[in-house]
Amino acid sequence: MKPHRLAMSVNGEKVETLFAPYKTLLEVLREDLALTGTKHGCELGECGACTVLLDGAPVLSCLVLGMECEGRSVQTIEGLARGPDLHPLQAAFADFGGSQCGYCTPGVIMAAKALLETNPSPTRDQIKEATAGNLCRCTGYQQIVDAVEDAARRLKEEAR
Ligand code: FES
Ligand code: FES
Repeated sequence: MKPHRLAMSVNGEKVETLFAPYKTLLEVLREDLALTGTKHGCELGECGACTVLLDGAPVLSCLVLGMECEGRSVQTIEGLARGPDLHPLQAAFADFGGSQCGYCTPGVIMAAKALLETNPSPTRDQIKEATAGNLCRCTGYQQIVDAVEDAARRLKEEAR
């Protein structure tokens, strides 16, 4: 099968890669671009572990073909930290126990980032709704909602 050539922006940098045309965005990120922060879960669109932002909106990268991403902008968990400093979402997840085994965390954080970019002061119900597609076996979800709520507060303080 002829490899497909793709140019897109990943975490603000232009990348070009050649890959088998049947691959999903999740596989291109992990296998061709070595960005393994985005997790492989069910590959059926049911767990949310593979959530990334595509042109700013959360998508399940296991359900997006790599070849659909030509010229588009992808954000993954690797692009979140600010140099040596954690993004406020990452810091809040660490402080509030929102990340335990950590397998769901990259996907939850990317879904939460998309929420906070459009709604800087979400209610707890809005946080639950925005992260409802992200399954977590460890936290019971309470700590995830606490962490996103606190990250919203930290981001608002930064913006003052
Ligand atoms: S791996 Fe994509 S939703 Fe589960
Ligand atoms: S922290 Fe383990 S699955 Fe969420």
